[in-house]
Amino acid sequence: MLHVRMIKAKNPEEVGKIAADQFEALIHSKPACVIGLATGSTPLPLYRELIERERAGKIDFTRVRSANLDEYKGLAPDHPQSYRRFMQENLFDHISIRPENTIVPDGLAEDVDAMCRGYEEKIENWGGVDLQLLGIGHDGHIGFNEPEDHFPVMTHEVALTEMTREANKRFFDSIDEVPTAAFTMGIGTVMAAKKIVMVVTGKDKADILYKSFFGPVTPEVPASILQMHPDVTVIFDEAACSWE
Ligand code: PGA
Repeated sequence: MLHVRMIKAKNPEEVGKIAADQFEALIHSKPACVIGLATGSTPLPLYRELIERERAGKIDFTRVRSANLDEYKGLAPDHPQSYRRFMQENLFDHISIRPENTIVPDGLAEDVDAMCRGYEEKIENWGGVDLQLLGIGHDGHIGFNEPEDHFPVMTHEVALTEMTREANKRFFDSIDEVPTAAFTMGIGTVMAAKKIVMVVTGKDKADILYKSFFGPVTPEVPASILQMHPDVTVIFDEAACSWE
């Protein structure tokens, strides 16, 4: 717990602004930095803020490299629900980051092991992730690392839990269309980041946020491992704060 900085914001927009400050500071100090990015609803205010700040001349993404946490297995990059497409629409298409400097696991990979290894190597060749953004699932997942009996280390394939498929079905026409598997950075990949920023909003996340940072470190709550990371900042809104 000693290393985890907890920042309480009023609402999701303020969470986005405070998280954006972290990215802005990093990009100023290291213009060719490597950032780890996440999909989901929670990062959207942050992404809007980053787009606005670049438009206002406060940040420059031209030398930044980015690696995304995860991708659905079986979805092509241009599939409306793919995470690659999500990133294009919500961030990359609106900032100056170079397409070749953005990586997302390949949902269509035939040789899964080679793709996962290649993903790790690319990040390593870039010098590792300087700042990793995370959301959190209702079951404590980070990326698509679901509760298990161990912490998976590297980028790998996972079967999605019913809870996660249920939570994500809002983006699809029906639950049957939600993929049953995904590729995700491992817990080890995430823990290797020099700095981690987690964003959490909404009262439906209050229980899992509490469990993750005030409960025991266990692979049954994947996010709890972050208690062991030396530089974690959790930015949450009032609704997600249950312990005051
Ligand atoms: P959400 O997803 O931001 O859409 O709640 C978070 C997650 O599942 O990691």
